[in-house]
Amino acid sequence: MPPPPPPPLSNLATRDVETFVPPYTHLAGFRDTGPLILERGRGVHVYDTEGKAYIEGMAGLWCTALGYGNEELVEAAAAQMRKLSFAHLFTGKSHDPAIELAEKLKEMAPVPISKVFFCASGSEANDSQIKLVWYLNNALGRPKKKKIVSRIKAYHGVTIAAASLTGLAANHRDFDLPLPGFLHTACPHHYRGAQDGESEEQFAARLAAELDALIEKEGPETVAAFIAEPVMGAGGVIVPPRSYFEKIAPICTKHDVFMISDEVITGFGRLGTMFGCEKLHFHPHAISIAKQLSSAYLPIAGVMVPEQVYQALLSESRKIGVFAHGFTYGGHPVSAAVALKAIEIYLRDRIVEKAAEQAARFQARLAALNAHALVGEARGLGLIGGVELVADKRSKRSFVPQHGVGAKAVQFAEHEGLIVRAVLGDVLTLCPPLIINAAQIDELFDRLVRALDKTLDWVTRERLAHS
Ligand SMILES: Cc1ncc(COP(=O)(O)O)c(C=O)c1O
Repeated sequence: MPPPPPPPLSNLATRDVETFVPPYTHLAGFRDTGPLILERGRGVHVYDTEGKAYIEGMAGLWCTALGYGNEELVEAAAAQMRKLSFAHLFTGKSHDPAIELAEKLKEMAPVPISKVFFCASGSEANDSQIKLVWYLNNALGRPKKKKIVSRIKAYHGVTIAAASLTGLAANHRDFDLPLPGFLHTACPHHYRGAQDGESEEQFAARLAAELDALIEKEGPETVAAFIAEPVMGAGGVIVPPRSYFEKIAPICTKHDVFMISDEVITGFGRLGTMFGCEKLHFHPHAISIAKQLSSAYLPIAGVMVPEQVYQALLSESRKIGVFAHGFTYGGHPVSAAVALKAIEIYLRDRIVEKAAEQAARFQARLAALNAHALVGEARGLGLIGGVELVADKRSKRSFVPQHGVGAKAVQFAEHEGLIVRAVLGDVLTLCPPLIINAAQIDELFDRLVRALDKTLDWVTRERLAHS
């Protein structure tokens, strides 16, 4: 029997489907399913237009660290809007919130930082990183040193250069990307990438050797930078093997390759340390920040660069004149005021330390999912996790992508009152607000287990594990 037709969409859902192009959406399927329309939020919960409550298990898009309805953040925005609703940082203009925020970020940075360049999104931050590295190498008189290395399954954004860094096929295919000069080295995923019997340390050593070989093959004089997320997010929450960055960093040093940590997800406490590179034990030259910087109450992002880059900008300016890069909304005063307040709360309320404490429970409940018949690997660090669904646990065989097993699990989770996301390879991602408490972590996982059980029933009924 053919499946029953989907129920008709509500009026609001129909207006949605007929009016805008939703980002990161299966556009064809979406015409039948329509959107989940959210109306309000409080703490770790969001509520749809019917009043149904959900635990926001993804903190929006890895960003609402302080949850919803935080009156201090609302007040910081309102006060700044009343005082000075907009001012820019172009052509010698400035404003208090940006100055104070840059000072605070320099103080907090895990490595020596000379200056902060503000923008409004993670993609803009990573695009800016590339342009600054190119500028740096022109200033240093090495115009051939321009290639950028990122990793397969990395996610660095969607603008043309950032999407070129991103190592996911869907971000390249039919977008005519990546641009030339963007290279992708192996993904540091032990579960999928390790050889039989290879330990995490051995796997890390092999990946470092591969990076070394890639740079040698391209010519070190042509390779400018290496960029990495401390823990990969949108690529499926991939925690690198033990000692990975300790082995990668010397390769970058050996070839004079600038190292960028993309902390758009991991910055401001996600892994239980203020910055992810602290948890993963490496010292990047530059850092990209966004998302939790303002707890996503308003868009703001930035690039934190060392003195070496600033000196290059100065020397280029002496040659060219104006540093011709900047975004209208970079360092927007209202966003900056909110970011300052968010940082004040992170420090005052020990949000990062508390997240580190809760991480033990979160990771224990996550690890327990490894026993589930559908789960190939449940992995994570701090308050982030990925649950990879497989058709066959023993052989690690994935489901056929067209069956949409991950997407179905997301639907079952939503029925249970839990928002999670499915990314490539049927990986369910979890990234709750950092303010989540022990009881809410338990509730999150109880709901997820029920959703996995229902997904397993459905997979069995439809015989999807065998195709
Ligand atoms: C690690 C990382 N870098 C960059 C980006 C891009 O940020 P945006 O969507 O704000 O452009 C993201 C978005 O999820 C991200 O996870």
